[in-house]
Amino acid sequence: VRSFILVGQTAVGSPDFSLDDLPGSSGRLDILLRALQSALLISHGLRRDTLAYLVLLGTPGCPSVVRVDGRVAEFLRPDERSLGGRIKNALGWKSIRQDFSEDRQGIAVARGGIELAIADLEGSTPFVLEEAGVDVRAAELTAEHPTFFVGDHLGFDRGTRERIERLGATAISVGPIRLHADQAIVVLHNELDRREPLCATTTPQ
Ligand SMILES: C[S@@+](CC[C@H](N)C(=O)[O-])C[C@H]1O[C@@H](n2cnc3c(N)ncnc32)[C@H](O)[C@@H]1O
Repeated sequence: VRSFILVGQTAVGSPDFSLDDLPGSSGRLDILLRALQSALLISHGLRRDTLAYLVLLGTPGCPSVVRVDGRVAEFLRPDERSLGGRIKNALGWKSIRQDFSEDRQGIAVARGGIELAIADLEGSTPFVLEEAGVDVRAAELTAEHPTFFVGDHLGFDRGTRERIERLGATAISVGPIRLHADQAIVVLHNELDRREPLCATTTPQ
């Protein structure tokens, strides 16, 4: 199982944004939606071996984490607007708690910050996608359950960076050029798929 923790420093943790203007109204949640799309969706299918966590830190006093579990998720469409609609809907559920107990069709939401995702992935091996990290082609990436932290347009805030360091995450670079988060994820998946094609099991939707 591969997991991605997508950290949105400014992305809103509430449903108060417009699908008609995602970049302008959601604190750049659109960046995380594209990253989610790259993490989970492939042509006519879903990566059934991948989980993605959207850590939404942009609403003061109300951080939220949305978990999308590719193993069981249903009806995920690849376009940003449709994915945005699913996340908006989930953020509006009445019964959201401080754990992932609220889970519908593979989408779960909890109130809290990055610690929720870290705790949910206890036992996994942490990596962080960083331009200056070890070249992915030379990296030891045989962990059964790797977790990859990915930043947004601002990268990582200092607190998050320190937390990732304390976890002992290995920094992995997918190349010498700074890419968008979604692009970096696609390259990483590709490198992993080439090593372990069976990981990329998919089910047509
Ligand atoms: C647009 S970049 C962040 C740019 C931000 N201004 C900064 O300086 O960190 C978004 C994320 O994509 C990932 N990323 C981008 N290029 C990468 C590369 N060449 N190798 C590994 N990860 C990369 C990193 O996780 C980064 O935080």
